Amino acid sequence: MCDEWMPHLELPITFEQFQQLPRNAAYKYEYFHERAWLSPRPHYYHALLDLEAWAARPLEGASRKARLRPVQPTDWAGLAPLFSAAFDRQQPFCGLDDERALAAARKALEHTRAGGDGPWIEQASFVATDGEAGPEVGAILVTLLPEGDPSGWHSYHWKEPPPPDALARRLGRPHLTWIFVRPFNAGQGVGTLLLSAAVRELLALGYKQLASTFLIGNDSSMLWHWRQGFQLLAYPGSWRRQVAEMEEAM
Ligand SMILES: CC(C)(COP(=O)(O)OP(=O)(O)OC[C@H]1O[C@@H](n2cnc3c(N)ncnc32)[C@H](O)[C@@H]1OP(=O)(O)O)[C@@H](O)C(=O)NCCC(=O)NCCS
Repeated sequence: MCDEWMPHLELPITFEQFQQLPRNAAYKYEYFHERAWLSPRPHYYHALLDLEAWAARPLEGASRKARLRPVQPTDWAGLAPLFSAAFDRQQPFCGLDDERALAAARKALEHTRAGGDGPWIEQASFVATDGEAGPEVGAILVTLLPEGDPSGWHSYHWKEPPPPDALARRLGRPHLTWIFVRPFNAGQGVGTLLLSAAVRELLALGYKQLASTFLIGNDSSMLWHWRQGFQLLAYPGSWRRQVAEMEEAM
């Protein structure tokens, strides 16, 4: 998703020091020529939420203080610093200085806004503010992806540009492309509130599922998805799956 921001690192350290290096799941660690070589190896997993089941259960733990509003054209510029702060401890943004992290946030948001993550579903995207008149504290941005097998490699990009009326025709499957909450306000149910509004609007549009993607190593994202009831899908590169497919083809 934002792999371009993950640097390759070459560290002149001893093998003993290499063994003590804390590891990040998004990196591959190798040691040769008396150097540690760290190369990006991001693994993205996908998960699926059954919207009707989610809406049928009691909504617990959603922030009572935060307020939601649709994303306005003037919001995008202000969302970039919020995005950058929220992802401050997550790959790939944690490795960037403030200026580059902000540039990366702007680029990611612009990509989403411009349809690079599939048509943006404006109706199901929201900004959360701290009370009626408070500052922005979070946002959820939902886009539309093809409806293919959600655990396949190729279901997360449109091969051909989607028809302009894809949403009106209820084509595709919604995808939770970004959700982020300002660290100061995290853990207070803002993310749950944002998701509840997105689910309500997606159901009103006629959709039944919401897919999502998370990077292995982003524990807060993984735990949040799990806690919300997202079901982990098979890893597209699953060995068992590949063997089963080969056996089927024979
Ligand atoms: C993931 C994120 C959006 C969650 O928003 P939030 O407002 O903090 O979430 P909520 O308060 O609604 O949390 C609901 C549940 O998620 C889990 N959770 C949320 N943040 C967590 C964290 N940092 N670590 C572990 N669990 C977490 C908790 O189990 C929590 O339930 P509980 O309080 O009953 O235990 C927020 O932490 C964030 O912005 N993270 C950085 C950006 C990111 O990784 N986004 C997801 C990928 S796009």
